[in-house]
Amino acid sequence: MIRVRVKGQRRLSPGYLLLDLEAPEVAERARPGQFVRVKAWWGRDPLLPRPFSVHEVLGGRIRLLYGVRGPGTETLSRLSRGDVLLLDGPLGRPFPLPERGPVWLVAGGIGVAPFLFYLSELRNRGLPTRLFYGGRSRGDLLRVDRLRELSGALVLTTEDGSRGRKGLVTDPLSRALGRERPALMVACGPPGLLKAVGRLAEARGIPAYLSLEALMACGRGLCLGCAVARRGGGTLKVCVEGPAVDSREVDLETLV
Ligand SMILES: Cc1cc2nc3c(=O)[nH]c(=O)nc-3n(C[C@H](O)[C@H](O)[C@H](O)COP(=O)(O)OP(=O)(O)OC[C@H]3O[C@@H](n4cnc5c(N)ncnc54)[C@H](O)[C@@H]3O)c2cc1C
Ligand code: FES
Repeated sequence: MIRVRVKGQRRLSPGYLLLDLEAPEVAERARPGQFVRVKAWWGRDPLLPRPFSVHEVLGGRIRLLYGVRGPGTETLSRLSRGDVLLLDGPLGRPFPLPERGPVWLVAGGIGVAPFLFYLSELRNRGLPTRLFYGGRSRGDLLRVDRLRELSGALVLTTEDGSRGRKGLVTDPLSRALGRERPALMVACGPPGLLKAVGRLAEARGIPAYLSLEALMACGRGLCLGCAVARRGGGTLKVCVEGPAVDSREVDLETLV
């Protein structure tokens, strides 16, 4: 792990923060879809570094977008400019970069974190994109203005109707799939969303990648801590074969 310095941190809405880290080598090597492991505490509790997607790359800095869940993210949320943390990465396989679009991205809540970097890369390649982005309430929808600039079209939903259309993000997605056909779909979010997108894509024969969340220990394919069930038997190591994997390789029924 390398030592990196915090350039700044700001709260975007209750429980969600944007953390800027000075990490030139990581910024240079990172590709959309990859993640880093971060340890901002010096004792043994919590024991393991926590994984976060590379949200944005700005010059020699990387940005993480995260939600406060437990002790690791709680500690992270107290850091400020000048603090030092330990970082490992970039790790994992990048998202696919197809020859042609459109590419439709589907994000649930903090699952949007890796998509800003991905959208800027797809845009650089001239590929048409659409982002379907849903949260429980308006405070769960983050960095909307920047995402709107980067995506060809942005569809927002909230379960309580406080922003965008009321309902689940898969509602407008299903309707759009009734009329149009993207070349590729990529989803990141809670397991229910990943299952739904996997099934919608398979029913229509559209290639889809699902960015899986798994508890991680080594981050290097050595411990099986991140294993999920592979369709047809065996396991899939999310840290080295993912985080985004072809939906046809995953046993969707076992995602929790
Ligand atoms: C590849 C990858 C990329 C990720 N990227 C981001 C990101 O960009 N932004 C972000 O906010 N979060 C991201 N996460 C999730 C993030 O790693 C967890 O929120 C974090 O580890 C929680 O640590 P904690 O110590 O605060 O909470 P913990 O005490 O470890 O956990 C709090 C609660 O969250 C659950 N939880 C913890 N980690 C995970 C996990 N990996 N998957 C499912 N449930 C979990 C626990 O079961 C517990 O209920 C990512 C996870 C992975 C695997
Ligand atoms: S985290 Fe150890 S094998 Fe994936």
